[in-house]
Amino acid sequence: MNRKLALITGAASGLGYEFCRLLAADGYDLVMVDRDREGLEQSASKLQQKSGVTIQSYVKDLGRNHAAGELYKEVEDREFDILINNAGFGLYGHFANTDWEIEETMLHLHVLTLTHLTKLFLQKMIRRGSGRIMNVSSMAAFQPCPTMSLYYASKGYMLYFSEAVANEVKGTGVTVTVLLPGLFNTNFARTAAMNSGSAERQEKAANSTVEQVAKKALKGMMKGKIRVIPGFSNKLMVLLPRFLPRNFVLSALRRIQERLRQ
Ligand SMILES: NC(=O)c1ccc[n+]([C@@H]2O[C@H](COP(=O)([O-])OP(=O)(O)OC[C@H]3O[C@@H](n4cnc5c(N)ncnc54)[C@H](OP(=O)(O)O)[C@@H]3O)[C@@H](O)[C@H]2O)c1
Repeated sequence: MNRKLALITGAASGLGYEFCRLLAADGYDLVMVDRDREGLEQSASKLQQKSGVTIQSYVKDLGRNHAAGELYKEVEDREFDILINNAGFGLYGHFANTDWEIEETMLHLHVLTLTHLTKLFLQKMIRRGSGRIMNVSSMAAFQPCPTMSLYYASKGYMLYFSEAVANEVKGTGVTVTVLLPGLFNTNFARTAAMNSGSAERQEKAANSTVEQVAKKALKGMMKGKIRVIPGFSNKLMVLLPRFLPRNFVLSALRRIQERLRQ
């Protein structure tokens, strides 16, 4: 009997690993993709030992030109039930001063690779008449934020893109879900090049665990929900900017980000 199959990007750690853990427990075979070779090898072998599922891993920097096409070529002969575009990272700083190489990687990863992988998997899933795709955005998608301009803008792209495609594919048997979580504890804050003090402050501000986020996300995706915002307070928070003047929201978010980094 063929087992169900899922591909997860950013699978070496954090939310991506948690998705893999929960899906493996549910009997899914996995394709785990990440740029972190050591982390990926460790995570894949830990999971392999715990579960009886088949795990394949690919070390790939998805922030490079043609990364999605190259990855797809490696796996295109297989039938996927789930694609989770989870890999992502943050960068803090004023846009005039931040490092373009890191930003170019982020834009490739958050925009081009996510979009191309969605297209490639979607076409095959539609031909088959079933499949689930989830794009991991953030509550950051709902408004712009000074000092994290590209991160927020690219997460906003994911929201608009995913919502529109989710509507287009209605009735095909395939669904597209966009996950919009608030803060939860992973390596995210440290990767975002904050000093350790500020990373700790951000970690304290987290209002969900990675397990809670992953469980709600998978449940929502399986139901075919278009948007998943884990946590009641987060659902309220995303409504707030709609009722406040936009310039006020910009200044308030800048103050919050600067305070997190003091
Ligand atoms: N944690 C939060 O509070 C939070 C809130 C909202 C949304 N999110 C989103 O959740 C997703 C998962 O983040 P996380 O919190 O689990 O962070 P994480 O623990 O840092 O995990 C992200 C994983 O993605 C990998 N990755 C980054 N860039 C990559 C690339 N170019 N190619 C391939 N793999 C790459 C990372 O590898 P490296 O270790 O080598 O970078 C890491 O293994 C991200 O999209 C993030 O924006 C996180």
